[in-house]
Amino acid sequence: MLEPSMWVEAQKKEKVYWVNVKDSREESVPRESLLRFCKLLKLLERAEVKKDYVVTLDIGSGPNCGIFNVLRQGSLKIAIDPLFGYFSFGYPSDVERIKGVAESLPIRSNCVSATFSINMLDHTKAPEIVVSESSRVQNNDGILGLMVQVVSAKMKAINSLFHHYRISKNIGLQLHKMPRFMLKIVLGAFRILGLIFNEDVYAIFEDGFLHPHYLTSKDVFWLLSSCGFSPLFYKIVCDDKSTKKADLYVILENNRTKSYDFETS
Ligand SMILES: C[S@@+](CC[C@H](N)C(=O)[O-])C[C@H]1O[C@@H](n2cnc3c(N)ncnc32)[C@H](O)[C@@H]1O
Repeated sequence: MLEPSMWVEAQKKEKVYWVNVKDSREESVPRESLLRFCKLLKLLERAEVKKDYVVTLDIGSGPNCGIFNVLRQGSLKIAIDPLFGYFSFGYPSDVERIKGVAESLPIRSNCVSATFSINMLDHTKAPEIVVSESSRVQNNDGILGLMVQVVSAKMKAINSLFHHYRISKNIGLQLHKMPRFMLKIVLGAFRILGLIFNEDVYAIFEDGFLHPHYLTSKDVFWLLSSCGFSPLFYKIVCDDKSTKKADLYVILENNRTKSYDFETS
């Protein structure tokens, strides 16, 4: 279970990210988010699931209502994010905005036709509860469209080694206060570890402050299937060579068993 203050720290960074989006761009939807929304919707088309959605939901939408900037379906569109209220972004006017967390969705069971979650699962306090809440609110033939940044087992191991709460609190969050010589020693130690593990250990360590969870694609599929979701289609895309993370896109149905097809690029 995640130390709660680690999620609070991650949300502080998330706020900084959205302040930058607001300050530096004319559009309220970051380009990388738009591309992800479009990729997920394309995959949804390929999965050939019904599209007469009544209630649609974007969990962890961001303060700009996320996928509803491109998705028009749904007589009732709901966007949930803990950052609503901090920013005044332009967003589609027909979206019901709820400030809240995905671990306790303020929504009745069995009523959502389509849930979307883009690049949020690894940002939450408890991904397993988020997936189980998504399953609870979904109606029986509802669909879930998910995009999660996934990592290799080695990156996950490095992250869990250094993202122990004490290390994070005593080293990670104190780096900017350290005297120069101490900082040099710590960064030198990270460089040596980087050579040993053949990974950018410092980058993984730092990234852990924005992403409280490091999930492999296996972890994600395990979480989803343990909550009764069956994947219809999935795709893994490695666009960002610098972080070595990959984007996993997956379309799932509740209570439907079907073998799935996949693509990698
Ligand atoms: C990387 S942003 C992605 C936003 C948007 N989905 C997009 O792709 O542009 C992650 C979002 O997850 C939200 N988030 C973090 N923890 C959450 C939680 N427990 N429940 C719901 N949303 C959460 C953050 O506030 C943030 O807006």
